[in-house]
Amino acid sequence: MLGKDLIQEIDFGALYREQCRRSSFGARTSADWDRRAERRSRGEGDRDYDRALLARLDLTGARTALDIGCGTGNLAIPLAKVLRKVHALDFSPEMLRYLEINRKRAGVDNVVVHRLAWTDSWKGVPAADVVICSRALGVEDLRGALEKMHRKAKVRCYATLHAGGSYLGEDVLALLDRNMEPRPDYVYAVNVLYQMGVKARVDFLRSRGGLGYASAEDFVGAVRWRVGALSRKEEARLRKFYRALPREADGRRRYRHDFEWALLAWEKGPR
Ligand SMILES: C[S@@+](CC[C@H](N)C(=O)[O-])C[C@H]1O[C@@H](n2cnc3c(N)ncnc32)[C@H](O)[C@@H]1O
Repeated sequence: MLGKDLIQEIDFGALYREQCRRSSFGARTSADWDRRAERRSRGEGDRDYDRALLARLDLTGARTALDIGCGTGNLAIPLAKVLRKVHALDFSPEMLRYLEINRKRAGVDNVVVHRLAWTDSWKGVPAADVVICSRALGVEDLRGALEKMHRKAKVRCYATLHAGGSYLGEDVLALLDRNMEPRPDYVYAVNVLYQMGVKARVDFLRSRGGLGYASAEDFVGAVRWRVGALSRKEEARLRKFYRALPREADGRRRYRHDFEWALLAWEKGPR
Protein backbone atom coordinates (compact mmCIF):
# COMPACT_ATOMS: atom_id res chain seq x y z
CA MET A 1 0.00 0.00 0.00
CA LEU A 2 1.29 3.46 -0.90
CA GLY A 3 1.87 5.85 2.04
CA LYS A 4 0.63 9.40 2.31
CA ASP A 5 2.56 12.06 0.37
CA LEU A 6 3.79 14.91 2.58
CA ILE A 7 2.23 17.43 0.23
CA GLN A 8 -1.20 16.29 1.40
CA GLU A 9 -0.34 17.60 4.87
CA ILE A 10 0.17 21.17 3.67
CA ASP A 11 -2.92 23.34 4.04
CA PHE A 12 -2.63 25.43 0.87
CA GLY A 13 -5.95 27.12 1.62
CA ALA A 14 -4.54 28.40 4.93
CA LEU A 15 -1.28 29.52 3.26
CA TYR A 16 -3.32 31.37 0.65
CA ARG A 17 -5.40 33.12 3.35
CA GLU A 18 -2.25 34.14 5.19
CA GLN A 19 -0.70 35.57 2.00
CA CYS A 20 -3.96 37.49 1.30
CA ARG A 21 -3.73 38.92 4.82
CA ARG A 22 -0.10 39.97 4.33
CA SER A 23 -0.59 41.31 0.83
CA SER A 24 -0.31 45.05 0.16
CA PHE A 25 -3.05 44.61 -2.46
CA GLY A 26 -6.23 44.58 -0.41
CA ALA A 27 -9.53 42.80 -1.05
CA ARG A 28 -12.10 44.63 -3.20
CA THR A 29 -15.77 45.12 -2.38
CA SER A 30 -18.57 45.26 -4.93
CA ALA A 31 -18.63 49.06 -4.45
CA ASP A 32 -14.91 49.16 -5.37
CA TRP A 33 -15.63 47.23 -8.55
CA ASP A 34 -18.61 49.49 -9.31
CA ARG A 35 -16.15 52.37 -9.62
CA ARG A 36 -14.15 50.44 -12.22
CA ALA A 37 -17.12 49.45 -14.39
CA GLU A 38 -17.39 52.44 -16.71
CA ARG A 39 -13.70 52.31 -17.59
CA ARG A 40 -13.69 48.60 -18.23
CA SER A 41 -16.79 48.87 -20.36
CA ARG A 42 -15.26 51.65 -22.43
CA GLY A 43 -12.95 49.01 -23.80
CA GLU A 44 -9.91 50.27 -21.99
CA GLY A 45 -7.61 47.72 -20.54
CA ASP A 46 -6.49 44.70 -22.40
CA ARG A 47 -8.56 43.48 -25.29
CA ASP A 48 -5.51 41.43 -26.28
CA TYR A 49 -6.17 39.37 -23.13
CA ASP A 50 -9.82 38.73 -24.12
CA ARG A 51 -8.76 37.56 -27.58
CA ALA A 52 -5.98 35.33 -26.23
CA LEU A 53 -8.21 33.71 -23.61
CA LEU A 54 -11.17 33.14 -25.93
CA ALA A 55 -8.82 31.53 -28.47
CA ARG A 56 -7.68 28.99 -25.85
CA LEU A 57 -11.11 27.86 -24.68
CA ASP A 58 -12.05 24.42 -25.90
CA LEU A 59 -15.79 24.56 -26.41
CA THR A 60 -16.03 21.06 -27.86
CA GLY A 61 -19.23 19.46 -26.63
CA ALA A 62 -20.34 22.68 -24.94
CA ARG A 63 -23.69 24.37 -25.36
CA THR A 64 -23.74 26.42 -22.17
CA ALA A 65 -21.24 28.39 -20.10
CA LEU A 66 -21.10 30.02 -16.69
CA ASP A 67 -18.84 33.09 -16.53
CA ILE A 68 -18.00 33.90 -12.88
CA GLY A 69 -16.90 37.48 -12.20
CA CYS A 70 -18.13 38.34 -15.69
CA GLY A 71 -17.63 42.11 -15.34
CA THR A 72 -19.03 44.08 -18.25
CA GLY A 73 -19.41 41.02 -20.47
CA ASN A 74 -16.12 41.13 -22.38
CA LEU A 75 -16.06 37.30 -22.39
CA ALA A 76 -19.71 36.39 -21.76
CA ILE A 77 -20.96 38.28 -24.83
CA PRO A 78 -18.56 36.74 -27.39
CA LEU A 79 -19.29 33.34 -25.81
CA ALA A 80 -23.04 33.94 -26.15
CA LYS A 81 -22.52 34.36 -29.90
CA VAL A 82 -21.29 30.77 -30.21
CA LEU A 83 -23.17 28.97 -27.42
CA ARG A 84 -26.83 28.35 -26.71
CA LYS A 85 -26.84 30.07 -23.31
CA VAL A 86 -24.36 31.91 -21.09
CA HIS A 87 -24.91 32.50 -17.38
CA ALA A 88 -23.03 35.62 -16.28
CA LEU A 89 -22.40 36.04 -12.56
CA ASP A 90 -20.97 39.05 -10.74
CA PHE A 91 -21.56 40.91 -7.47
CA SER A 92 -21.11 44.44 -8.86
CA PRO A 93 -24.39 46.08 -9.94
CA GLU A 94 -22.51 48.61 -12.10
CA MET A 95 -20.57 45.89 -13.93
CA LEU A 96 -23.86 44.15 -14.65
CA ARG A 97 -25.52 47.42 -15.77
CA TYR A 98 -22.76 47.86 -18.37
CA LEU A 99 -23.01 44.19 -19.32
CA GLU A 100 -26.68 44.80 -20.13
CA ILE A 101 -25.81 47.84 -22.29
CA ASN A 102 -23.09 45.88 -24.09
CA ARG A 103 -25.35 42.86 -24.53
CA LYS A 104 -28.04 44.95 -26.22
CA ARG A 105 -25.47 46.68 -28.39
CA ALA A 106 -24.13 43.28 -29.49
CA GLY A 107 -27.67 42.04 -30.21
CA VAL A 108 -27.45 38.87 -28.11
CA ASP A 109 -30.39 37.68 -26.02
CA ASN A 110 -29.05 34.45 -24.51
CA VAL A 111 -27.15 35.85 -21.52
CA VAL A 112 -28.74 35.21 -18.12
CA VAL A 113 -27.44 37.51 -15.40
CA HIS A 114 -26.97 36.44 -11.77
CA ARG A 115 -26.14 39.21 -9.33
CA LEU A 116 -24.31 37.14 -6.73
CA ALA A 117 -21.06 37.04 -4.79
CA TRP A 118 -18.78 34.02 -4.43
CA THR A 119 -19.98 33.63 -0.86
CA ASP A 120 -23.73 33.70 -1.70
CA SER A 121 -25.80 30.61 -2.26
CA TRP A 122 -25.75 29.69 -5.97
CA LYS A 123 -28.80 27.46 -5.71
CA GLY A 124 -30.51 29.25 -8.59
CA VAL A 125 -27.47 29.04 -10.89
CA PRO A 126 -27.70 25.98 -13.15
CA ALA A 127 -24.72 23.79 -13.94
CA ALA A 128 -23.09 24.66 -17.27
CA ASP A 129 -20.96 22.70 -19.70
CA VAL A 130 -18.02 25.09 -19.38
CA VAL A 131 -17.35 27.16 -16.26
CA ILE A 132 -15.00 30.11 -16.55
CA CYS A 133 -13.59 32.40 -13.92
CA SER A 134 -11.34 34.97 -15.51
CA ARG A 135 -9.32 37.19 -13.16
CA ALA A 136 -12.09 37.08 -10.58
CA LEU A 137 -10.86 34.67 -7.92
CA GLY A 138 -10.36 37.41 -5.36
CA VAL A 139 -11.74 35.26 -2.57
CA GLU A 140 -10.70 34.35 0.96
CA ASP A 141 -11.73 30.73 0.71
CA LEU A 142 -9.86 29.51 -2.37
CA ARG A 143 -10.73 25.84 -1.94
CA GLY A 144 -14.40 26.70 -1.39
CA ALA A 145 -14.43 28.77 -4.60
CA LEU A 146 -12.66 26.13 -6.72
CA GLU A 147 -15.02 23.44 -5.41
CA LYS A 148 -17.99 25.65 -6.22
CA MET A 149 -16.71 26.09 -9.80
CA HIS A 150 -16.05 22.39 -10.14
CA ARG A 151 -19.55 21.47 -8.91
CA LYS A 152 -21.18 23.79 -11.46
CA ALA A 153 -19.24 22.32 -14.41
CA LYS A 154 -20.51 19.49 -16.59
CA VAL A 155 -17.55 19.26 -18.98
CA ARG A 156 -14.58 21.51 -18.07
CA CYS A 157 -13.41 24.54 -16.12
CA TYR A 158 -11.07 27.43 -16.85
CA ALA A 159 -9.66 29.86 -14.31
CA THR A 160 -7.16 32.63 -14.91
CA LEU A 161 -5.16 33.92 -11.99
CA HIS A 162 -2.41 36.42 -11.71
CA ALA A 163 1.13 35.13 -12.03
CA GLY A 164 3.61 37.16 -10.05
CA GLY A 165 1.45 38.83 -7.43
CA SER A 166 1.62 42.53 -8.36
CA TYR A 167 -1.09 44.51 -10.09
CA LEU A 168 1.28 47.45 -10.60
CA GLY A 169 4.35 47.64 -12.81
CA GLU A 170 7.86 47.83 -11.35
CA ASP A 171 8.09 51.51 -12.37
CA VAL A 172 5.15 52.50 -10.16
CA LEU A 173 6.15 50.15 -7.32
CA ALA A 174 9.51 51.95 -7.23
CA LEU A 175 7.72 55.23 -6.42
CA LEU A 176 6.10 53.84 -3.28
CA ASP A 177 7.90 54.07 0.08
CA ARG A 178 6.95 50.64 1.30
CA ASN A 179 7.79 47.01 1.03
CA MET A 180 5.06 45.65 -1.17
CA GLU A 181 3.84 42.20 -0.25
CA PRO A 182 2.52 40.19 -3.22
CA ARG A 183 -0.98 38.83 -3.72
CA PRO A 184 -0.97 35.04 -3.63
CA ASP A 185 -0.52 33.95 -7.21
CA TYR A 186 -1.80 31.02 -9.25
CA VAL A 187 0.39 28.33 -7.72
CA TYR A 188 -1.82 28.11 -4.61
CA ALA A 189 -4.78 27.21 -6.82
CA VAL A 190 -2.80 24.52 -8.69
CA ASN A 191 -2.00 22.88 -5.35
CA VAL A 192 -5.50 23.21 -3.94
CA LEU A 193 -6.86 21.57 -7.10
CA TYR A 194 -4.26 18.82 -6.78
CA GLN A 195 -5.45 18.15 -3.25
CA MET A 196 -9.02 18.06 -4.56
CA GLY A 197 -7.91 15.27 -6.89
CA VAL A 198 -8.00 17.55 -9.95
CA LYS A 199 -5.07 17.60 -12.37
CA ALA A 200 -5.09 21.10 -13.83
CA ARG A 201 -3.19 22.01 -16.97
CA VAL A 202 -1.32 25.29 -16.63
CA ASP A 203 -0.63 27.68 -19.46
CA PHE A 204 0.29 31.35 -19.49
CA LEU A 205 -1.14 34.42 -21.19
CA ARG A 206 0.59 37.76 -21.42
CA SER A 207 -1.28 40.98 -21.83
CA ARG A 208 -0.35 44.61 -21.96
CA GLY A 209 -2.80 46.15 -19.55
CA GLY A 210 -3.38 49.77 -18.86
CA LEU A 211 -6.04 52.36 -18.41
CA GLY A 212 -6.21 55.98 -19.53
CA TYR A 213 -6.33 58.68 -16.87
CA ALA A 214 -7.82 62.12 -17.44
CA SER A 215 -5.82 63.77 -14.66
CA ALA A 216 -2.99 63.18 -12.20
CA GLU A 217 -5.63 62.87 -9.45
CA ASP A 218 -7.36 60.19 -11.43
CA PHE A 219 -4.09 58.26 -11.75
CA VAL A 220 -3.19 58.66 -8.06
CA GLY A 221 -6.72 57.48 -7.20
CA ALA A 222 -6.20 54.32 -9.26
CA VAL A 223 -2.97 53.47 -7.41
CA ARG A 224 -4.79 54.15 -4.12
CA TRP A 225 -7.53 51.77 -5.31
CA ARG A 226 -4.87 49.06 -5.46
CA VAL A 227 -2.73 49.72 -2.39
CA GLY A 228 -4.74 51.91 0.01
CA ALA A 229 -3.75 55.26 1.55
CA LEU A 230 -0.70 57.00 0.08
CA SER A 231 1.69 59.45 1.74
CA ARG A 232 2.06 63.00 0.37
CA LYS A 233 5.52 62.12 -0.92
CA GLU A 234 4.19 59.07 -2.77
CA GLU A 235 1.36 61.12 -4.26
CA ALA A 236 3.76 63.84 -5.42
CA ARG A 237 5.98 61.24 -7.14
CA LEU A 238 2.99 59.59 -8.77
CA ARG A 239 1.73 62.95 -10.09
CA LYS A 240 5.14 63.65 -11.61
CA PHE A 241 5.19 60.16 -13.14
CA TYR A 242 1.71 60.75 -14.57
CA ARG A 243 2.75 64.03 -16.23
CA ALA A 244 5.54 62.17 -18.07
CA LEU A 245 3.17 59.55 -19.51
CA PRO A 246 2.29 59.87 -23.21
CA ARG A 247 -0.97 61.67 -23.93
CA GLU A 248 -3.35 59.84 -26.27
CA ALA A 249 -5.78 61.18 -28.87
CA ASP A 250 -8.61 61.33 -26.28
CA GLY A 251 -6.50 63.64 -24.08
CA ARG A 252 -5.88 60.98 -21.43
CA ARG A 253 -2.49 59.78 -20.35
CA ARG A 254 -2.21 56.03 -20.41
CA TYR A 255 -0.25 53.91 -17.96
CA ARG A 256 0.59 50.56 -19.50
CA HIS A 257 2.40 47.60 -18.07
CA ASP A 258 2.73 43.90 -18.75
CA PHE A 259 0.68 41.29 -16.96
CA GLU A 260 1.20 37.57 -16.90
CA TRP A 261 -1.81 35.36 -16.26
CA ALA A 262 -1.88 31.67 -15.53
CA LEU A 263 -4.67 29.82 -17.29
CA LEU A 264 -5.71 26.72 -15.35
CA ALA A 265 -7.87 24.25 -17.23
CA TRP A 266 -9.35 20.99 -16.06
CA GLU A 267 -11.84 18.42 -17.19
CA LYS A 268 -14.76 17.60 -14.96
CA GLY A 269 -14.26 13.85 -15.23
CA PRO A 270 -15.75 11.43 -12.73
CA ARG A 271 -15.06 12.38 -9.07
C1 LIG B 1 -10.79 41.99 -12.94
S1 LIG B 1 -12.53 41.92 -13.20
C2 LIG B 1 -12.59 40.59 -14.38
C3 LIG B 1 -13.68 40.74 -15.41
C4 LIG B 1 -13.62 39.69 -16.52
N1 LIG B 1 -13.88 38.36 -16.00
C5 LIG B 1 -12.27 39.76 -17.20
O1 LIG B 1 -11.43 38.87 -17.02
O2 LIG B 1 -12.03 40.73 -17.92
C6 LIG B 1 -13.12 41.10 -11.73
C7 LIG B 1 -14.62 40.94 -11.71
O3 LIG B 1 -14.95 40.03 -10.67
C8 LIG B 1 -16.02 40.56 -9.91
N2 LIG B 1 -15.86 40.05 -8.55
C9 LIG B 1 -14.81 40.30 -7.72
N3 LIG B 1 -15.00 39.70 -6.54
C10 LIG B 1 -16.19 39.06 -6.61
C11 LIG B 1 -16.95 38.28 -5.69
N4 LIG B 1 -16.50 38.05 -4.46
N5 LIG B 1 -18.13 37.78 -6.10
C12 LIG B 1 -18.59 38.01 -7.36
N6 LIG B 1 -17.92 38.77 -8.27
C13 LIG B 1 -16.74 39.27 -7.90
C14 LIG B 1 -15.86 42.08 -10.01
O4 LIG B 1 -17.07 42.77 -9.78
C15 LIG B 1 -15.36 42.25 -11.43
O5 LIG B 1 -16.41 42.40 -12.33
